[in-house]
Amino acid sequence: MSRTDTILVLDFGSQYSQLIARRIRECNVYSRIVSFRTTAEEIRKEAPAGIILSGGPASVYQDNAPKCDPAIFELGLPILGICYGMQLTVQTLGGEVARGKAREYGKAEVETIAPSPLFEGVPTKSQVWMSHGDKVTRIPEGFTAFASTANTEYAGIQNAGKSIYGIQFHPEVVHTVNGQRMLSNFCRLICRCEGNWNMASFIETAVKEIREKTQGEKVILGLSGGVDSSVAAALIHKAIGDKLTCIFVNNGLLRKGEAERVRELFGEVFKIPLKYVDATDRFLSKLADVREPEKKRKIIGHEFIEVFDEAASEIKDVKFLAQGTTYPDVIESVPIDGNPSAMIKSHHNVGGLPAKMNLKLLEPLSRLFKDEVREVGRKLGLPEEMVMRQPFPGPGLAVRIVGPVNAHDLEILRNADQIIVEEMKKAGLYYKIWQTFAVFIPVKTVGVMGDERTYDSVIALRAVESRDGMTADWVELPYDLLGRISNRIVNEVSGVNRMVYDVTSKPPGTIEWE
Ligand code: XMP
Repeated sequence: MSRTDTILVLDFGSQYSQLIARRIRECNVYSRIVSFRTTAEEIRKEAPAGIILSGGPASVYQDNAPKCDPAIFELGLPILGICYGMQLTVQTLGGEVARGKAREYGKAEVETIAPSPLFEGVPTKSQVWMSHGDKVTRIPEGFTAFASTANTEYAGIQNAGKSIYGIQFHPEVVHTVNGQRMLSNFCRLICRCEGNWNMASFIETAVKEIREKTQGEKVILGLSGGVDSSVAAALIHKAIGDKLTCIFVNNGLLRKGEAERVRELFGEVFKIPLKYVDATDRFLSKLADVREPEKKRKIIGHEFIEVFDEAASEIKDVKFLAQGTTYPDVIESVPIDGNPSAMIKSHHNVGGLPAKMNLKLLEPLSRLFKDEVREVGRKLGLPEEMVMRQPFPGPGLAVRIVGPVNAHDLEILRNADQIIVEEMKKAGLYYKIWQTFAVFIPVKTVGVMGDERTYDSVIALRAVESRDGMTADWVELPYDLLGRISNRIVNEVSGVNRMVYDVTSKPPGTIEWE
């Protein structure tokens, strides 16, 4: 097997494993996350250019501590152990790790005490990020230390002859000021990677693969208007042209102007065959008087599959169903006993369709991180507004109206939401924040407008910062911006006389209100 220009990240359950892979890709080197259980034989077959052993929450002394196949150290491949990965390397190769008495957490200054290719171009003293309990106290034979901090004698160790390196700190986080340089050194100087991974070459390869896989057969794709399905559509269309048909279901729960924008962009600009189904009445009649959030979600999910299925059955001889699944959707969580971060994430957008439709799946973005998907979108000519779009839930505005959904309240919510989007864009904040949106609260309160008493509904403004939607912080929007949004909503949206600001983080709140 000839060597591939890939770095494998063996995942020991670190919250940063994905970040390591992303940083490696920023060095233009393809990186894939695999379980710590991957055997040396499996790795040999894949023939990567190097291996990174990630950090992790366990201690090497713990019962059931995740251990890798020791034969990995005999493959002759360059290895970089980070934090737990370093301690495991030391323990496996005959050194000693002491149980930590106190956890070292935060910034530290690392000093280079001997030359190392890993630190090429890194100043003698530089800031790093530490987060560990256990500590290396004796290094294995053949190793030397090349970096230390005030608290950590063995902050960086190496066996240059065998190309095995260990660092106690985290190069992947931004607080390690020269971290990217160190990872780049590992890829380029130590693993000798060529660095051909970029989105232009990805598109070229993906186009070939899509053509080979589909062999001239027809493909359908459910377009949601979101980043992933839009980029998948543009990419597949580039590969197979009119063999792709997109189906766009308007469930009546979209934001203002959204259906029109999607139809215009894909139908008229990209000229991708687009089947547009306006199922507004169907969804709204099924949702009438339904109060319970989970029931609302179930109805919407079920109805979507029905409508999509009907639309798809009108297109003859389809063999493939394409989806905008991305890499974080498919990375397997590491099942480490007792580690809560190992919980398997349920993915709410893919359920149901493929099994029911008996089609083969086409998922051309499944190797890409979100920022890479956006870059592919840009390269394919999608407008910035589309590639930088904020996440929008599948059940749409139905989870932003508390209680039963109806056309009247939806209209109010759409108008209020539109003002928020406009003002956030004007303030230059819309694309910097994870999500900002309006929520409709079906409660009437008293107000006064001119000389008249009003008795109208309440809109809540939600603005959150998040990395992946799993946790979130509410955002401190400037008061003058809050004031402008509130003024405009109360003055311009008929049926609303009050705006409140949601200052709840997740946990304990969720991002959406239902
Ligand atoms: P919650 O409300 O659970 O939301 O804190 C976390 C993130 O997921 C989005 N979300 C969904 N996305 N289908 C989706 O595609 C859904 O059913 C769904 N529910 C919530 C939400 O907007 C936030 O970004």
